Amino acid sequence: MSSWERGPCTDILEVILDEATIAARIEELGREISASFAGKNPLLLGILKGSFVFMTDLARAIDIPVEVDFMAVSSYGKSTKSSGVVRITKDLDRSIAGRHVLVVEDIVDSGRTLSYLIENLETRNPASVTICTLLDKAEARIADVEAQFVGFPCPNKFVVGYGLDFAERYRNLAYIGELKPEVYQS
Ligand code: IMP
Ligand code: MG
Repeated sequence: MSSWERGPCTDILEVILDEATIAARIEELGREISASFAGKNPLLLGILKGSFVFMTDLARAIDIPVEVDFMAVSSYGKSTKSSGVVRITKDLDRSIAGRHVLVVEDIVDSGRTLSYLIENLETRNPASVTICTLLDKAEARIADVEAQFVGFPCPNKFVVGYGLDFAERYRNLAYIGELKPEVYQS
């Protein structure tokens, strides 16, 4: 794998969404979510680790009272394809019974991770479960899940940055870019 220190990341083939574009869309999402959940005191449920950057910006774009919690799941390992086997590595801190839960995801790809998670959450008797994803790779969908709030449609390419990783790297890029295939094929 190539490496980079300081300066622009040379492992990126093309920037797909720049910082300003992401920020503007998150402002809109924040307004839509605030209107939709007014009076409901929703729980923003971030799925770690990929959603950690999106969550911090989205939460601040919402201007109604919310609570925040996180779950961590692992499904990929060091690969670019979801295995379909999802493991909860960190569970919620509190009960969600009777709560309006807004799941905050970085990207929905095959949909397997979310489909498993939603089934799991439904057993805990929440008032509602709604999905907000920054990126929607609709073309890659296998499981039957649909996000009600979508930041951007995403081409069927492997993207990194703004929380999204390959083998735990690139999460700290401020933009979202397509990873050079030679980086994950090598
Ligand atoms: P799914 O189960 O196939 O929908 O995969 C969902 C998870 O896979 C996401 O939460 C991401 O962590 C990861 N993922 C899917 N596509 C990408 C990508 O293009 N870049 C980085 N991570 C991805
Ligand atoms: Mg993830």
